[in-house]
Order: sequence, then C-alpha cells, then structure tokens
Amino acid sequence: MKILGIETSCDETAAAVVEDGVRILSNQIASQVEIHARYGGIVPEVASRQHILAIIPIVDQAMAEAGVNWGDLDGIAVTIGPGLAGSLLVGVNVAKTIALARGLPVTGVNHLEGHIYANWLINRDTELAPLFPLVCLIVSGGHSDLVLMRGHGDYVVVGRTRDDAAGEAFDKAARILGLGYPGGPAVEQAAKGGVASIKLPRAWLKGTNDFSFSGVKTALLRLVEGGRISSPADAAASFQEVVIDVLVTKTVAVAKQHRVKQVLLAGGVASNGLLRHWLVENSPIPVLVPELILCTDNAAMIAACGYYRFQAGKVDGLDLDVIPSLRLA
Ligand code: KG4
Ligand code: ZN
Repeated sequence: MKILGIETSCDETAAAVVEDGVRILSNQIASQVEIHARYGGIVPEVASRQHILAIIPIVDQAMAEAGVNWGDLDGIAVTIGPGLAGSLLVGVNVAKTIALARGLPVTGVNHLEGHIYANWLINRDTELAPLFPLVCLIVSGGHSDLVLMRGHGDYVVVGRTRDDAAGEAFDKAARILGLGYPGGPAVEQAAKGGVASIKLPRAWLKGTNDFSFSGVKTALLRLVEGGRISSPADAAASFQEVVIDVLVTKTVAVAKQHRVKQVLLAGGVASNGLLRHWLVENSPIPVLVPELILCTDNAAMIAACGYYRFQAGKVDGLDLDVIPSLRLA
C-alpha cells in the first residue's frame, strides 16, 4: 500500500511516499528556515504564502523521486493539526484536491501522532520495530508530552509541559545567548565548545510526570542581564544539560512505572545528540530513536501514520478541515 503524505503545519513544506507504513520511497522537504531567520522566528503569514509557492513542486518531486504515478497510490495522508491555521490550510486543500481529482481516499493526521510514527519508518541502524505497550517522549517546538501507547491509535498523555515546550526553551535560550535561529541546533553546536559549569535550576515537579522549562530560561536570562555569563558556550552546555537531565529522568521513570516494552523518542528536539545518547545510556528498557531527518518535520512520518489510520478504516470526507489546536487522545 503506497501513501502520499503531505505536511505543512509549520515552516516546512513536505511531501513523501511511504510503502506499507515503513518503507520510504521518497521524502522531500522544502525548509523556509532562511526566510524566517531574518525575523528570529516564524512569521505565520509569510509561512502560509511560502507553502503555496512550494507545495505543488514538492509533491511533484516526491512522486518523481518515488517513481510512482497517481494510479500507483492507495491514499493520501495530510496533517490537519496542531499547527498554524494558514499553513495547515495549504496542505489540507492540496490533499483534498488530489483526492477528488484522482478518486483517492484521504485521512487527516495529527502532527504529534505523525512524530511518533517516525519510529515505524525502517530504522537503518537497528531494524527494530516498536512494540506495545510503549512510552514516547514527544519533544518539539510546540509540545513536550510523555505518551503511553498501548496499540495503534491508542494514546494516553501521562505527562506534559506546564509552560514552555522543550524546543521552545531551546529557541528562547539561543535568543538570550545571541546564538541565532533556529535555536536547538545552535545551542547544541555552541555547547560542544563549552562545559556545563553554570548552576541552573531543574524543575522536577515531584509527584507528577509534568515538565516546566520557563524557570531555567528565566534564570539564564537573569544571569545574562546581570553580566554574569562570560562564556556563551558554557551557558549553552549548562542549559542543554539541565533540560535533557529532566527529560531523560522523567521519561525513564514513566517507562518503569508503566512497565513498557520500549521507549520511543520523537519530535525536533529528538535530533539532539546529547538527548539521544543520555536516554539510551540511562534507560534499562530498549530505546528507539528515529533517524535525524525523521525527527524534525517531514511528510514520511505523516504517511506512516496515515497507513495505520487507513488500516483501521479511518477515511475522512472532503469536509476534512484543519484543527490548529488539535490534541493527542
Ligand atoms: O518537530 P519540529 O521540527 O517542529 C515542531 O513540530 O515544532 O521541532 C522543532 C523544534 C525547534 O524548537 C528546534 O529548536 C528544536 O526542535 N530542535 C532542537 C534540535 N533540532 C531541532 N532542539 C535541540 N537540539 C537540536 N539538535
Ligand atoms: Zn513537528
């Protein structure tokens, strides 16, 4: 079964063709990062206009890279939320138009569910497939959720951030330290040249599985404002260590608590090398991590998730609409 995936929830215009939910036949991503970098963050109006320019060429490229024609496809999966309304609209309307024109079924995918399904795309390092029950740490620019998954489409959010998402915290820390945009990769890069010698607060929120990252960001801001940071590299290393220590400790605790078979990592922050390394080192339960290119926004993960939705008979009508504040479960 070949599914065309379409993803336009934020600032990446992406299309991919995935076979049987696991084999990537193509994975095309047009990033707008250079355009938004000028403003130090995503400008929603600019993002949606850019998606309009990029979407048709990207779909064409995904079809060409996969070597398939419309007649070879079995369905279309498209992100309906969460995300920027104007951006989501572009992908959803293109998906519905192709579905109508080519007589193909369409299914709307939750972007966060998509991130989780990046773990089903054949992992070239391990060849391991996810096993239920599992716990997944989703860490992106807008979300930090600990999700218990007992089967396909069965999610229980057992922990979440009470303020900033992990990726958002990285982005804000980068801005505070003048490291540029996007923040996550900039902080990780700067941290390589420093040592985690600066004391920053870890918000444990004892007795809960929730996270909080606004305190560490504010503490960093106070240090910078007070002129007490002599090495941005040391500050980046310290900040990164605090955020990742809390993420890893809480994820391992939840995995043990629910006696899961596997721990999965997902979302843009999952491309952070220290997070990947620490989680693998500290978890007594096997850890699955998607390839780097599948951690940040892409359409292969949407197509993979769409495959399982089609298997479960979840086909949407042409009244399918965007849900910018869509949640898991
Ligand atoms: O999943 P994603 O591509 O988009 C959303 O759905 O939000 O995640 C983007 C987030 C950004 O906040 C970015 O700074 C962060 O992921 N990120 C990282 C790294 N690469 C991307 N954070 C830490 N370390 C990284 N290497
Ligand atoms: Zn994302």
